[in-house]
Amino acid sequence: MELSLVLTTLTIVTFISTVTSQSPIQNFVSCFSKFHEPSHSPITEVIYTPNNKTFSTILNKHLQNKRFKLDSTPKPLAIVTAKSAFDVQATVKCAKSNNIQIRIRSGGHDYEGYSYVSDVPFIILDMFLINGINIDKHNKVAWVESGATLGKLYYTIGKTSNFFGFPAGVCFSLGIGGHFSGGGYGNLMRKFGLSVDNIVDAKIVDVNGNILDRKAMGEDLFWAITGGGGASFGVILSWKIKLVYIPSNVTVFDVSKTLEEGAIDLIYKWQLIATKLPNELFIRLQPIVKIGKDGKKVVQVHFIGQFLGTTEKLLPLINEKFHELGLKTSDCHHMPWVNSTLFWYGKPIGTPLEALLDEPKDTSTIYFKSQSDYVKKPIPKEGIKAIFEKMIEGDTLFMQWNPYGGRMDEISASAKPFPHRKGNLFLIQYLNYWPEDTPGAIERHVNFSRSFLQFMTPYVSHSPREAFFNYRDADIGANLPSNVTKMGISKVYGTKYFKDNFNRLVNIKTKVDPHNFFRYEQSIPTLSAL
Ligand SMILES: Cc1cc2nc3c(=O)[nH]c(=O)nc-3n(C[C@H](O)[C@H](O)[C@H](O)COP(=O)(O)OP(=O)(O)OC[C@H]3O[C@@H](n4cnc5c(N)ncnc54)[C@H](O)[C@@H]3O)c2cc1C
Ligand SMILES: *[C@@H]1O[C@H](CO)[C@@H](O)[C@H](O)[C@H]1NC(C)=O
Ligand SMILES: *[C@@H]1O[C@H](CO)[C@@H](O)[C@H](O)[C@H]1NC(C)=O
Ligand SMILES: *[C@@H]1O[C@H](CO)[C@@H](O)[C@H](O)[C@H]1NC(C)=O
Ligand SMILES: *[C@@H]1O[C@H](CO)[C@@H](O)[C@H](O)[C@H]1NC(C)=O
Ligand SMILES: *[C@@H]1O[C@H](CO)[C@@H](O)[C@H](O)[C@H]1NC(C)=O
Repeated sequence: MELSLVLTTLTIVTFISTVTSQSPIQNFVSCFSKFHEPSHSPITEVIYTPNNKTFSTILNKHLQNKRFKLDSTPKPLAIVTAKSAFDVQATVKCAKSNNIQIRIRSGGHDYEGYSYVSDVPFIILDMFLINGINIDKHNKVAWVESGATLGKLYYTIGKTSNFFGFPAGVCFSLGIGGHFSGGGYGNLMRKFGLSVDNIVDAKIVDVNGNILDRKAMGEDLFWAITGGGGASFGVILSWKIKLVYIPSNVTVFDVSKTLEEGAIDLIYKWQLIATKLPNELFIRLQPIVKIGKDGKKVVQVHFIGQFLGTTEKLLPLINEKFHELGLKTSDCHHMPWVNSTLFWYGKPIGTPLEALLDEPKDTSTIYFKSQSDYVKKPIPKEGIKAIFEKMIEGDTLFMQWNPYGGRMDEISASAKPFPHRKGNLFLIQYLNYWPEDTPGAIERHVNFSRSFLQFMTPYVSHSPREAFFNYRDADIGANLPSNVTKMGISKVYGTKYFKDNFNRLVNIKTKVDPHNFFRYEQSIPTLSAL
């Protein structure tokens, strides 16, 4: 706090010209300016301190959760908007030598704001300007820089060919840097696995400020960053991905049912078949709370599906395996895969592909708390009913149930840090979004999310109760007895996110970053944190 007060009285220009700088941040800036090549761009366009008028614009540009946009939210000492690998190297070297922590941000979707909030003094390393995509059509691979959004990747693939795709998330404003390093999944998961199952190389800046590719970093570190989270190990500059073959015509649908329309029986049946359907078919289930005709709250369940093929092939398949859904030709829409990425985001059919390139504005106008669970055995019908009754006690919480099976069952649980493979029926994502700014609203909604998660205990995985690392939840490992060590806390979240892979992650971390420079509130610890 004192530091930022000092800062507000100074300008960047004074930082640079001050020879005997006092504060670590001043030292950081002068260190950076030694590395920085003015031929690239003036340093004032790369480093923003709180006294800069555009500081909060930059801070909020990739801040997705209003829960972390409060006056009371700790602010960074500075933001570096890196324009080149060179700037990233300078940031790592100068932050390290001045003992300042960094938080690395690509798309800023972190559920707990770990890319732009911390209780310790820190600098944000913003990657959004490093966002190039280079597709090698002949070899069906692409180099994608961390600051690119998924939308830009999907758009660029679509412009290249209607036969290519890439398995990754549904929300296309996600940043490649965080999304891929945490696993990355979407509606192509049953056919092709996760994003990380289709990554073949990467470039990172390590703790010494060196740029390493897969060969230079070695297989251990490459394994760790493809699912164990980049921010514990280095700064990811870019990924090399393998494009996947997709038929030129995919079919999508969104059919909804209320409980009166038999949703419970349908969901029960879905649990029995969704993981066993052909890998080309992915049906997500999305229960939401709606106001019914009588003005009372009801749960409406969406069955949102994607088939890698034509409607003519899909209909007989559904009739054979899931005729209860009553899918009709008129429910089905066929389109190239790239258009389907807009459909999944909820955009009307026919939306121009350019919408995939929409720049994030300062869109953090909504608060959210999200969490996750894995389900390994079907939830009985009475259970489903009870879950929906609990849902109706709130009004803003909804769920997404994402079926596994297919390719996910074939990949070993230790192939990547992501351990939730064979034996999982589906991943539940709990999403609680609310707009109101009224006092106490955050606490009330977060309380509801917590009580909902508690309510789900009998239906979901246990020992450990698994959670998806890309859906980070600050509650995990919080409120433990005060005698639990730092390692004890990290074992709690580490085991839930990575199961048996956690120990290997700790060993790799200890080797590549022994002094724990790359850290954040739920990072992989070094062994010495014991
Ligand atoms: C609306 C929404 C929809 C989502 N949908 C999906 C989905 O369909 N599938 C799915 O798998 N996940 C989904 N997620 C979760 C998402 O994958 C994670 O939040 C992911 O970490 C976001 O990446 P980011 O770069 O946008 O976030 P950031 O907040 O920028 O980063 C997240 C984490 O990664 C680290 N990081 C970011 N960039 C780098 C880098 N270059 N090098 C090293 N570390 C880095 C950050 O420090 C932070 O720890 C969704 C999230 C939201 C908010
Ligand atoms: C703020 O940043 C802008 C670049 O975006 C730069 O032109 C200006 O000099 C900076 N102002 C201060 C006070 O550093
Ligand atoms: C896509 O499929 C639909 C029906 O499923 C068909 O009418 C259309 O001609 C197909 N388009 C292409 C380009 O194959
Ligand atoms: C897919 O997108 C292209 C380009 O915007 C557009 O011409 C085409 O009509 C779209 N098709 C569908 C079915 O939305
Ligand atoms: C939230 O939960 C805590 C702990 O259970 C409780 O003390 C608090 O009163 C609750 N707040 C609201 C607004 O419901
Ligand atoms: C922490 O304290 C509790 C009692 O408060 C005790 O039961 C437990 O064994 C202690 N754990 C450790 C790791 O010391």
